[in-house]
Amino acid sequence: MANQMDFTKVVAHAKEYGFVFPSSEIYDGLAAVYDYGQLGVELKNNIRQSWWRAMVQMHDNIVGLDSAIFMHPRIWKASGHVDAFNDPLIDNRDSKKRYRADVLIEDHIAKIEDKIEKECAKAAKRFGDAFDRQQFVSTNARVLECQKQIDDIHARYADCMSRNDLDGLRQLILDLGIVCPVSGTRNWTDVRQFNLMFATRMGSVIDDSDTLYLRPETAQGIFVNFLNVQKTGRMKIPFGIAQTGKAFRNEIVARQFIFRMREFEQMEMQFFVRPGTELEWFKHWKEERLQWHLSFGIPADCYRYHDHEKLAHYANAATDIEFRFPFGFKELEGIHSRTDFDLSRHSEFSGKKLQYFDTELGESYTPYVIETSIGLDRTFLAIFSHALREETLDDGSTRTLLSLPPSLAPYKVAVLPLVKKDGLPEKAQEIVGTLRREMMVQYDEKDAIGRRYRRQDAIGTPFCVTIDSETLADSAVTVRHRDTMQQQRVPIDQLNSYLKSQL
Ligand code: GAP
Repeated sequence: MANQMDFTKVVAHAKEYGFVFPSSEIYDGLAAVYDYGQLGVELKNNIRQSWWRAMVQMHDNIVGLDSAIFMHPRIWKASGHVDAFNDPLIDNRDSKKRYRADVLIEDHIAKIEDKIEKECAKAAKRFGDAFDRQQFVSTNARVLECQKQIDDIHARYADCMSRNDLDGLRQLILDLGIVCPVSGTRNWTDVRQFNLMFATRMGSVIDDSDTLYLRPETAQGIFVNFLNVQKTGRMKIPFGIAQTGKAFRNEIVARQFIFRMREFEQMEMQFFVRPGTELEWFKHWKEERLQWHLSFGIPADCYRYHDHEKLAHYANAATDIEFRFPFGFKELEGIHSRTDFDLSRHSEFSGKKLQYFDTELGESYTPYVIETSIGLDRTFLAIFSHALREETLDDGSTRTLLSLPPSLAPYKVAVLPLVKKDGLPEKAQEIVGTLRREMMVQYDEKDAIGRRYRRQDAIGTPFCVTIDSETLADSAVTVRHRDTMQQQRVPIDQLNSYLKSQL
């Protein structure tokens, strides 16, 4: 079973140790915007590098790109974002609070699901080892009644969403008796569509043609550079273009820390394939992306696929890789088979032919696309929250441990002179000088050694190197391993290669 830490502790730890700060905090913060502190930026860079290595460095046929955040406004018309990148919003007249109508309904469904879970938990307690969950949920009258309610709500909700029936959504909220969590009343306004893109202006002339959008995804920068990269890189299909970068969405329900932000970072790859082969490639990327997540050593039961039954009009297959966050399973990455929708739309709107001449087939076609799209901040939250734990040690004391994968840890090693005298700090600084050419090193001489170990445990440093009086005589140091707390004597001249082999 996955490590489950109380979410408030995750948020507090991230702040206390300099991983994540609320943005503009001295001005009381800016909702759903966050800054990465001195340790957070290292962890984030390491995750980004790991993704880049796996996607670009490890593939002959995938290259990188860094396209601008500002793009021609017609791009967002072509992509469908101007007309359809909307959330349905509803206001409560008494509290003056604004909600996403779909989230109010999903929260209501989640409450009914909780009831099912409670029934299961009670039964599991009653029946002990003999409890068969599958049998229980398919036969227990109360569970069946709850499941029927969920199915009925789902059916109505999906119908309203697919027909863009905003009155129907409002009626569903009224029929379910959903109240505003703040005022407790059902005094709801109509439901309206709200576009999630941030608009801004370019240049000095105020007229509609100057309206630009902050990109809500990095993907469109890849599509509009398809021909540039294909031709200058002499890329042959199948091939991919990868990029990482900021994206902006005016999220209305922006909560759960860095899970849903208004400014965030994406890591996306668009893989261009021959039409007709896309479902094979979809399967390939679905598996390959999960393997990347598993490569961090987080147990497989923390991840699951969620295949989409209802597909966007341009997709012919889609799945999410979900992660077990402290608040439940939620989307971490999306893998979509997007057909030729994006390139065709940009051809149509730009008037430029975005096609590929396939020398093997002797014909031109608009390539199909498989997209892998993951949030960097969400991956940070997944890895960070899973790594954080409180351990009770053999002597009854406790320690807070951030058991990050060593390759991602902000500092790889801390160098600690046992005492602040007898030439030990000087020897320690000498060792820092050699190690830091190869890895991130922290030097610490303050407080008792036990407290220094605890500080490094809490920030995820996989190794502590201690310099003691014997070091001066035998030219060896003690290496302490973060997770096992085991210690090992290592000669200084082998320290670098020893640590690198462990990392
Ligand atoms: N180009 C496809 C695309 O953007 P998406 O499902 O909207 O698809 C992809 O976003 C990923 O970006 C999500 O799986 C999630 O990890 C991340 N993401 C989306 N919105 C986010 C937000 N408001 N805050 C943080 N991460 C977000």
